[in-house]
Amino acid sequence: MDFFNYSGHQLHAENVSLTDIAAEHGTPTYVYSRATFERHYKAYADAFATHPTLICYAVKACSNIAILNVLARMGSGFDIVSIGELERVLRAGGDPSKVMFSGVAKQEHEMRRALEVGIHCFNVESEAELHRLNKVAGEMGLVAPVSLRINPDVDAKTHPYISTGLKDNKFGIDIKDAVRIYGVADSLENLNVMGVDCHIGSQLTELQPFLDTFDRLIGLIDQLAEQDITIKHLDLGGGLGVRYRDEVPPEPKDYADLLLERIKGRDLSLAFEPGRSIAANAGILLTKVEFLKCNPHKNFAIIDGAMNDLIRPSLYGAWMDIVQVNLEATSEGSRIYDLVGPICETSDFLGKDRELDLQAGSLLAVRSAGAYGFTMASNYNSRGRAAEIMVDGDKVHLIRERETIDHQLVGEQLLPA
Ligand code: LLP
Repeated sequence: MDFFNYSGHQLHAENVSLTDIAAEHGTPTYVYSRATFERHYKAYADAFATHPTLICYAVKACSNIAILNVLARMGSGFDIVSIGELERVLRAGGDPSKVMFSGVAKQEHEMRRALEVGIHCFNVESEAELHRLNKVAGEMGLVAPVSLRINPDVDAKTHPYISTGLKDNKFGIDIKDAVRIYGVADSLENLNVMGVDCHIGSQLTELQPFLDTFDRLIGLIDQLAEQDITIKHLDLGGGLGVRYRDEVPPEPKDYADLLLERIKGRDLSLAFEPGRSIAANAGILLTKVEFLKCNPHKNFAIIDGAMNDLIRPSLYGAWMDIVQVNLEATSEGSRIYDLVGPICETSDFLGKDRELDLQAGSLLAVRSAGAYGFTMASNYNSRGRAAEIMVDGDKVHLIRERETIDHQLVGEQLLPA
């Protein structure tokens, strides 16, 4: 559930009309709802309240520091995959001792910074990375907390580009090699083995793949115990899906009920790295119709939002719900439109075959755009990235100004004359 609802004919973010936001801040603009972020985080925190559990919001989903700060204030930890994400968390007031560092190719300087600020755990993805981390920690006279990210070879039944737990994917350590590589980790003197980690994919709409993964990893934890390697936490990654169209994804509570039943009696804490299920429905992309172009065979609504603002439809063929901000009828009447942006690519569309009543100047909201929206935006065609707004009740906060050409050109220079 989110807090983007119609009041009268006008779509609102919490108590603020999106038409007013567009008038004041222009378009395209990402608009987030603070109450929705808080509600989604709380759904996880409440679901796992009876068991020691660290909820680490996956920063890559939506990384504006105002959002990280809202979550940090609620006690959230963070899953990061780069030093850039770590610096965002720190500047947002996040607690480094609740940070998990994931990613297949952490560089030495990134490891150093993470050790310096004292993160919770490194999710190590290969034997080579173990040796690198051991060396860096040794040079600093520190011991690095580690989990190994295990690839359990479970089919997440999601889009192939966002499936990560099959043996054909680049992620993690093959479960068949896990005991041996844990032995290596345990023998390295600057590492402290703490956990087992995995992340099998994103936008999962069933719980069974998570349960299969859990069972496999519990089996591994028991095997490790026989070798005197004690695992303190199990990190099951992110991946819970959201409703974009007609999916009925499970709620965190459904997930928790099944896992907590299975984990009973074990001295093992849990960790999760949810991104999409916290951020997606907490944001919309607000965009305006520039022109209608009605050809004999096809109607196009040319909008000011484009694939550089929101790449999910072009990259994954993702279907995003696109709704009118104002439901009042126009003189044009309803037609079936393709919603296309100004970029010079045929794949520059946000939606196809949508029945809408539009005229030039109409506002549209692309729903569920809070996750992997702004964070995947680019400057393609030298377009400045969109502004970001956070609505909190009846207050509107500009949390990232629209990028100007001066922002874009920082660091570029001409050759000498
Ligand atoms: N942990 C790790 C190690 C991850 O790689 C990811 C996402 C997450 C947690 C968060 O997963 P979530 O709860 O959001 O499913 N750009 C794609 C999604 C890529 C997901 C990458 N990893 C999209 O727009 O669908």
